[in-house]
Amino acid sequence: MSDQQKTPSADQLKVGIAGLGTVGTGVIKIISQQADILRQRTGRDIVIKGVSARDPKKLRDVDLSAFEWFGDPMRLAREADIDIYVELMGGADGIALASVEGALKRGVDVVTANKALMAAHGTRLAQVAEENNAVLAYEAAIAGGIPIVKALREGLAGNGIDRIYGILNGTCNYILTTMEKTGRPFKDVLADAQDQGYAEADPSFDIGGIDAAHKLSVLAALAFGRAVDFDAVYVEGIERIGAEDIAYASEFGYRIKLIGAAKRTAHGIEQRVHPCLVPLDTPIASVDDVYNAVVVEGDAVGQATFEGRGAGEGPTASAVTADIADIARGLRLPTFSIPAAELAPAQASPMEHHEGAYYLRLNVLDKPGVMAAITIILAEAQVSIASIIQRGRSTEEAVPIVILTHETREAVMMAALDKIRAHEAVMEEPHVIRIETF
Ligand code: NAP
Ligand code: HSE
Repeated sequence: MSDQQKTPSADQLKVGIAGLGTVGTGVIKIISQQADILRQRTGRDIVIKGVSARDPKKLRDVDLSAFEWFGDPMRLAREADIDIYVELMGGADGIALASVEGALKRGVDVVTANKALMAAHGTRLAQVAEENNAVLAYEAAIAGGIPIVKALREGLAGNGIDRIYGILNGTCNYILTTMEKTGRPFKDVLADAQDQGYAEADPSFDIGGIDAAHKLSVLAALAFGRAVDFDAVYVEGIERIGAEDIAYASEFGYRIKLIGAAKRTAHGIEQRVHPCLVPLDTPIASVDDVYNAVVVEGDAVGQATFEGRGAGEGPTASAVTADIADIARGLRLPTFSIPAAELAPAQASPMEHHEGAYYLRLNVLDKPGVMAAITIILAEAQVSIASIIQRGRSTEEAVPIVILTHETREAVMMAALDKIRAHEAVMEEPHVIRIETF
């Protein structure tokens, strides 16, 4: 496709959509319900020409009769008469990767909500897009309806960015806040999140922190001008967070959030996703339910916080439509803000350099000397204790000891934990949550 053919004109912008699930049907609804507004704002009619999904007979709550059905998304991407291929199927590889690459290689612009794809192949796909004069847009892949890609690439273009962090997974935030508010068990609340269309096809990606790590690695590439480095993200999920951790955190003046954080350090880029205790008076502590928040620290703007719904049909379809509208207007920006060839090679700072405070919950046999033994292990490692709670009395069962430490290095804390874990009175794997004061 030549540059001339890509000059926006007051004509139709022809779209093909592969994937008609939560997000795909949401996009069809917005394009049809907001047709007039979109025409006014972009100067073009956005017209869906073709759609694709696995099951042509499945009942969907949108009318597909006006669109050509493509049984094979590859054919939609590679052969259909479309200007934009919208990939909303999911998966880092397989048909999502093949069809996106197929569309880009023939110069068709691509819009995707697929963070797994962007985390695994984003740098190379950005090159393919540039070589073929195509746009690769992915606003919906990060933080649902929050326009964070637009903010980083356009609104904050004049800033050097040293740190970016936030709540990047709606399912986990929904689970943690609902457990805290209602006392309902983890599994029930996860089932709710799935019913509401928040969770990934495999929800272990959400609760295991992988989905947030996908998003963080893409955000870090964009913020720091580096190749996407998903493998360097330290990842822990929320699977081991219990109601008792939420209650102890609250008693100490904290809430538990799954946080993704990336920053420049002397050793390289630190990227990590894990549950954190955040002080109750930190703005991020009151971001609830399916909401996400992203905090960007720019050298000119200072701290800028973006908040909105991070998952679900409406917010995600809103972000997909925004990318389509940008392309309709003729906005053609490099995928990661700078040309793909200029992205710096990934350089990761290993987690052992991380510095912070820690929450430890230990289940120990209640017998003389145990508390002393644990505090001695910490003292010998030069880990200073900020607070400690031991409640209950039992000669037969384990009792909890909960400790908050002052700041230390991750490597030091992990070495001390190895010794605590090995102590004969410690009855189960210690529960460790990092503390972030931001
Ligand atoms: P979903 O509800 O499971 O829908 C997936 C759609 O893709 C279905 O229509 C399915 O077809 C179709 N599909 C899957 N494999 C296919 C194949 N091999 N060939 C043709 N069609 C295929 O998923 P979703 O929640 O809409 O998510 C879609 C994408 O958006 C994913 O990348 C996800 O990570 C991302 N995303 C989702 C959200 C959210 O809140 N849900 C938010 C941000 C980003 P059938 O319907 O026929 O089975
Ligand atoms: N499963 C994801 C989440 C969807 O819960 O945040 C939005 O990317």
